[in-house]
Amino acid sequence: MEKFVIRGGRPLRGEVTVSGAKNAALAIIPAAILSQDICRIENLPVSISDVSHMMKTLRHIGAQVRLINANTIEIDARAVNSFVISHDMTKFLRASYYFIGALLGRFGRAKVAMPGGCYLGPRPIDQHIKGFEALGADVSIEDNAIVDAHADRLIGSPVYLDVVSVGATVNILLAAVKAEGMTVIENAAKEPHIVDLANFLNSMGADVRGAGTDTIKIRGVEKMHGCTYSIIPDQIEAGTFMVAAAATFGNVLIKNVIPKHLESISSKLVECGAQVEEFDDAVRVSLDHRPGHCSIKTMPHPGFPTDMQPQMAVLLALAQGTSYINEGIWSNRFRYAEQLNRMGANIKVEGQLAVVQGVEALRGAPVKADDLRAGAAMLIAGCAATGTTEIEEILHIDRGYENVVEKFAALGADIRRIRFPDNDAAHAV
Ligand code: UD1
Repeated sequence: MEKFVIRGGRPLRGEVTVSGAKNAALAIIPAAILSQDICRIENLPVSISDVSHMMKTLRHIGAQVRLINANTIEIDARAVNSFVISHDMTKFLRASYYFIGALLGRFGRAKVAMPGGCYLGPRPIDQHIKGFEALGADVSIEDNAIVDAHADRLIGSPVYLDVVSVGATVNILLAAVKAEGMTVIENAAKEPHIVDLANFLNSMGADVRGAGTDTIKIRGVEKMHGCTYSIIPDQIEAGTFMVAAAATFGNVLIKNVIPKHLESISSKLVECGAQVEEFDDAVRVSLDHRPGHCSIKTMPHPGFPTDMQPQMAVLLALAQGTSYINEGIWSNRFRYAEQLNRMGANIKVEGQLAVVQGVEALRGAPVKADDLRAGAAMLIAGCAATGTTEIEEILHIDRGYENVVEKFAALGADIRRIRFPDNDAAHAV
């Protein structure tokens, strides 16, 4: 097993380059099987474990995946020959269920084990199924464990989502691009990675319009072709470094970002007293005094992203005064509060609300990463705290942050990856 050891209390300074968006990559990789051709995908965060699991799954169903360089792959989907994906493949991450929509689009058949992923509360897939059924698929769930979907023909249709769901929007898009006629998704998710997926599909010859609004229109096409496509920068990785800069009283230029995607995060940082300077494809964040308090409510895009909520809580834990965090998406996203409280924070959780009474400083402690973004919060807290923080269960962090030790260390953090229980310093990276 591995853990991170951070000796905190150093302001983060310098420049960091954000990787390609994990959540866009996780939709685009399965989408590549909709063509019987070769897709080259650039700016892909190849070394995060969620992406390597998706590449493994592609190989499992017969695709060839070639690594061109550290952030580029080629997917040759001509030899894809199976619509069955077992639990061994899907247990690691939620997004493995995007293969249901993609395989339905490719073969009219998908048999995919229910997905694993971060536990943030119940994660139903009723809206995905509603969409597949609207397109004419028969969907059953065997033994509560395997989704079996098939359709002789997929026929375009209106689909109204009862909740704004990123996953359902992606899955329905994947199934609909080759359906006969027009599909209209109403109350669709508007996250940047939905737009990125639509752009990728259009580069493959699909006809998708309106992505980024709450109505997406998909006119089915018979055939799709290969393409070369570069993934957008990761909004949440960028936001994580923005908060880390502020929480450590640092000054960081965060490069390879789309500032428009960061507006909800920037405005909360400014409300707390940080300086945020926007450039064409970079933002600089600095803070030289104790932050002020503010309140946040997480919402679907363009609201404040739930995936930035734990990181922001670290800054608010250090703020002057009381902040309120209202979690509007997930029912169990405050598990990190217990860990931050071990570091001296004062956070009380009541259902979907966290009341954060700011303290002057955090102190290092042994903590764990309960899930991916909770882990990001521990990283920021460890850098901001006095003394040494040890973070266990970092496999969650490795799911979504590329070269995380190298990136934090380049900004001046004293952070090492240690293998334990042997604690052999020779393994430190
Ligand atoms: C995606 C992101 C995740 C982020 C979340 C919300 C990926 C790979 N993951 O997750 O990081 O936290 O969006 O921004 O992109 N729901 C239903 N029925 C459904 C589907 C969802 O009730 O069929 C509910 C969920 O329980 C949740 C809400 O809708 O309360 C939003 O979920 P959704 O947008 O689907 O999240 P994911 O796609 O799983």
